[in-house]
Amino acid sequence: MKDIMTAPFMTEAVRTVTNMYNHGWDERNGGNVSIMLDESELRDYLDMSVIREIPTGFGAPSLDGRCFLVTGTGKYFKNVRYDPERNLGIIRVSDSGRTAQLLWGYSDGGKFTSELPAHLMSHAARLEINPANRVVMHCHPANLLAMTYIHSLDSREFTRTLWQMCTECIVVFPDGVNVLPWMLCGTNEIGEATAEMMKTARLVVWSQHGIYGCGADLDETFGLIETAEKAAEIYLKIAHLPRLNTIKDSELRQLAEHFNVEPRRGYLDD
Ligand code: 13P
Ligand code: ZN
Repeated sequence: MKDIMTAPFMTEAVRTVTNMYNHGWDERNGGNVSIMLDESELRDYLDMSVIREIPTGFGAPSLDGRCFLVTGTGKYFKNVRYDPERNLGIIRVSDSGRTAQLLWGYSDGGKFTSELPAHLMSHAARLEINPANRVVMHCHPANLLAMTYIHSLDSREFTRTLWQMCTECIVVFPDGVNVLPWMLCGTNEIGEATAEMMKTARLVVWSQHGIYGCGADLDETFGLIETAEKAAEIYLKIAHLPRLNTIKDSELRQLAEHFNVEPRRGYLDD
């Protein structure tokens, strides 16, 4: 059996959450990440025996048998690299999503993030659209969060503003961002609402809270959030100033054509 600390998925997960912390996106225990793993890639590192079973409090039948590396609830991203086994866990979904079988981690008796509903429901929703989706990431980037206090929360308006802030935004997230109004976090309801919004965009803003992103791997997902957060930063730098120039819709269209991406339908003016 190989040492799980040397597994590519483990080293990349630890590096990514450390980087998220270093970006200031994950104060205290803020943020959570889940990565879907193939059982075949785990077998080299784990005997797959169940350490304990943890009820999830919701169903996700399409994910039965799927394995996920998930950050622990209450755990600080800044500490993950010093003790991955305490701060992370690997679970196998069973019982139509109602039970998480712990295969590794949460070594202090802890459990998966309180946002597991939003994570697993989003995985299920995205896999229907992109079978290559593996990652769901949540964090609290300051500029996107601040923007939800002063900008319309209409998804189209919010997306258009971000697209106008940096030339490459429409290329990186042509599907735009969807925006949820404030909702109580850690609940099945916010999980269901997030997953519904994940059907049309890979970024979902939680107003006055943070953002969810998803993608095929950690780099892609991190890069999506990083790009949207940079755009929000530009917006906050200029929001109080007269705007003399912008990226016009005709220019956004040129970008989409040149880089061969399909902008979210109806989000550009004719
Ligand atoms: P957890 O510590 O349970 O992952 O919660 C952090 C968070 O960001 C809640 O939205
Ligand atoms: Zn949060």
